Amino acid sequence: MTDPKKLFIKTYGCQMNVYDSERMAESLGASGYVQTDQIDGADMVMINTCHIREKASEKLFSDLGRLRPAKEANPNLKIAVAGCVAQAEGAEIMRRMPLVDLVVGPQSYHRLPEMEAKIQKGERAIETEFPVEDKFDHLPERKAMRGPAAFLTVQEGCDKFCAFCVVPYTRGSEVSRPPERLLAEARNLASRGVRELTLLGQNVNAYSAGGYGLARLIREMAQLDGIQRLRYMTSHPNDMEDDLIAAHGDCPALMPYLHLPVQSGSDRILKAMNRKHTADDYLRVLDRVRNARPDILLTSDFIVGFPGETDADFQDTLNLVRKVGYGMAYSFKYSARPGTPAAEKLDVDTAVADARLQELQALLTSQQRAAQDAMVGQVVDVLYEKAGRLDGQMVGKSQHLHAVHVTDAAGQVGQLVRVRITESKSNSLAGVPLG
Ligand code: SAH
Ligand code: SF4
Ligand code: F3S
Repeated sequence: MTDPKKLFIKTYGCQMNVYDSERMAESLGASGYVQTDQIDGADMVMINTCHIREKASEKLFSDLGRLRPAKEANPNLKIAVAGCVAQAEGAEIMRRMPLVDLVVGPQSYHRLPEMEAKIQKGERAIETEFPVEDKFDHLPERKAMRGPAAFLTVQEGCDKFCAFCVVPYTRGSEVSRPPERLLAEARNLASRGVRELTLLGQNVNAYSAGGYGLARLIREMAQLDGIQRLRYMTSHPNDMEDDLIAAHGDCPALMPYLHLPVQSGSDRILKAMNRKHTADDYLRVLDRVRNARPDILLTSDFIVGFPGETDADFQDTLNLVRKVGYGMAYSFKYSARPGTPAAEKLDVDTAVADARLQELQALLTSQQRAAQDAMVGQVVDVLYEKAGRLDGQMVGKSQHLHAVHVTDAAGQVGQLVRVRITESKSNSLAGVPLG
C-alpha cells in the first residue's frame, strides 16, 4: 500500500460549494486522496471558487499567486480550480495560469478521477461542459460525516435571470434531483448520525421532480428515523407555494427559519433587476408565512447601489426592512458582472453606494441584535454540534440558527436539548439545559 495522497480544499461562496467540496473530496478518495486541513505538505490544492461578486472572483488569482513558490519547490504538487469561476473562466485560467493542472466546473466533478489520472501523466485537464449524464449518478456514496448537521443539494441551477446575477450562467438551468435518490441520501446521512438537514438549491423552492414539490420532499424526510430538523435555502419569493407555507405551520421538523431574499424595497429597482415581484408581493408572502409560523425568523439578501438606484429607492429598501424586522440579513454593494444585463448600465457613484451600504448594515445589525437579545429567558432547542472551549460546555444552534453555548457536562454531540437562554453575548447566546 502506498501512502494516501493529501488533498487540501479551500472553499469560497455559498453552501452549494461547501456541499460540492465534500463530494469532490469523496470522489478523489477513489484516486487515493484523503483530505487534510494543512496546506503545507498537500499533494493537491483545490480552490473551489465563487463568481458572484468581483471581489469573490479576485480571490482565486491572489490564491494562485501565493501558491507559485510551493509549486516551484515541488513540481509534483497538483493545483486544481473548481466552482463557478472555473465554469465561467476556465479556458482563461488555463491560459493565464500555467501552474494550474486541472479546471473543473460544478456540473463535471464526477469526472475528477479520470482527470486526476490524466494530470498524473503530466497533462492538463479541463471540464466545463454541462454533461448529459447526471454527476450524482457517478459519485461515490456519502461516507464520513462531519457532524450532526449536513447539507443536501436537491436542486441546482437557476432559470430566473435576475439582471445582476451570474448564477444562471455558471450553474446552468434548473434541475431537480429525483426524490427517491434524495430520500436514500437522507436516510444514509441519518444512519451516520446526521440529525439536521439543510436542503440546498439556488432556487430550492422551485424543486419539482417525480411528482414531488419541496413541501412533499420535506414532509417525507421529516418521517425518516433520526432526522429531527429540516430547513432549506435559497428561495425565491415567487416560488413560495401554498403547500410550502402550510408546511411551516404543520411540519414540526421544519425549522422556524426562512431565508427569503428580496434584494430591494423599491418596485422600480425590483423591475430593473428582473425580480418579477413587487415589494408588496413579497410582504404578502411574509405575512402568510408568519401566520403559519408566528415565531419564524426571517432573513434576506440586499443589494445596494444597483444601477439607477436613487435616494428614494434606497429609502424604500430601508422602509421595507423596518416593516419586516429581520432576524439576520446579508447586504452587498452591487458588483457589475461580465455578461449580465445590468453590467451594461451606468453604476451608482461608489461613495454613495458605500454610504448606503453602511446605513443599511447598521439598521440590519440593530435588528439582528434585537432578535438575539429577545431570546433571553426563552426556551429553545439546541442541536449540539461540538464541545465548547470551556470544560463542561457544548456548542450548537437553536431552531432559529442562533449559536448557543450551553453549560452541560453530560452533553453529547448530536443531542437535541431544551435549553433556557440566560444571556445574549456579542455573537452567541448562553444557556442551561431545562432540568
Ligand atoms: N439564489 C439565491 C442567491 C444567489 S447569490 C437567490 O436567488 O437569492 C446570493 C446573493 O448574492 C444574492 O441574493 C444577491 O443579494 C447577491 N448578489 C448576486 N449577484 C450580485 C452582484 N452582481 N452584486 C452584488 N451582490 C450580488
Ligand atoms: Fe441569481 Fe436571481 Fe437566480 Fe437567485 S434567483 S440565483 S439572484 S438569478
Ligand atoms: Fe458563488 Fe457559484 Fe454559489 S457564484 S454564490 S459559488 S452558485
